[in-house]
Amino acid sequence: MFIDTKTQLFGIFGHPLSHSLSPRLHSFMFKQLDVNAVYLAFETDNVEESLRAVKTLNIQGVNITIPYKEIAFKLVDIIDPDADVVGAINTIKNNNGVLYGYNTDYLGFMDMVKLNIDNYKNKRFVVLGAGGAAKAIVYGLYKLGLSNIGLLNRTIDKAKLIQAQFKNYVNINIGNLNDSTALLSSDVIINCTPVGLNDNQTPIDIKYIDKKEVLDIIYKDSALILKAKKRGCKAVNGMDMFIGQAFYSFKIWTGLEFDRQLAYKLLKGNLIL
Ligand code: ATR
Repeated sequence: MFIDTKTQLFGIFGHPLSHSLSPRLHSFMFKQLDVNAVYLAFETDNVEESLRAVKTLNIQGVNITIPYKEIAFKLVDIIDPDADVVGAINTIKNNNGVLYGYNTDYLGFMDMVKLNIDNYKNKRFVVLGAGGAAKAIVYGLYKLGLSNIGLLNRTIDKAKLIQAQFKNYVNINIGNLNDSTALLSSDVIINCTPVGLNDNQTPIDIKYIDKKEVLDIIYKDSALILKAKKRGCKAVNGMDMFIGQAFYSFKIWTGLEFDRQLAYKLLKGNLIL
């Protein structure tokens, strides 16, 4: 592919972005599918001005990541109905100067559950954390057909906010992170806290995870995932969710579907280019 006057620009807005895998994945897939486009990382301090630039410079689409998913939700022109329930967006499409906001995180999460958890409709899920990320996970669980879930958080008031936000969708039993009853009666634990990403901490006492399945939404192995694996649990990091959200963003922008197996190989570093 040669860059010319028709080359379209895509990118990601967030801070920090140094660890983002999105530029690598989307750029690779543009090339793979013969789309005349580039995808760049924009580590910005001002998402409002950055979104104005999307219109001014005719940037065709962007991903939005930490910490801007909820602010950007309020700044775009039109919100997709599913993203409206979540209250956060990670994908914007520029349609002739009108910015459409979508959430593909919950779709990527649904893929991760379908790929990794057998018989998920009959399992009891407990979400750890009540931040922005947890909202997409709760909505994904609702869309998977679950009607009762648990949500544990350090700050109970934040758990209450999520419970209220989704009261018309899914029944959420809330508690704190040492709620032994909720943890012992769960089948699948989903970590939506940053605990254990860069240290050896776990958000819950590790004794509760025996015989459980553990999911994390971060694509790197957290301490919880590593410890769960050591104890013989099924434990999966967020790579499938990451690839899933990218797959749906790419489809919104281009109408094309990339090969997810190829994405997995690329990001695992097993692809010889
Ligand atoms: P994100 O957008 O990634 O969800 P966030 O909105 O900052 O980020 O939310 C982070 C979540 O992880 C919160 O639920 C937070 O708990 P509080 O609501 O009590 O702040 C949780 N979290 C962060 N650090 C934590 C820690 N050291 N122990 C337990 N929970 C933690």
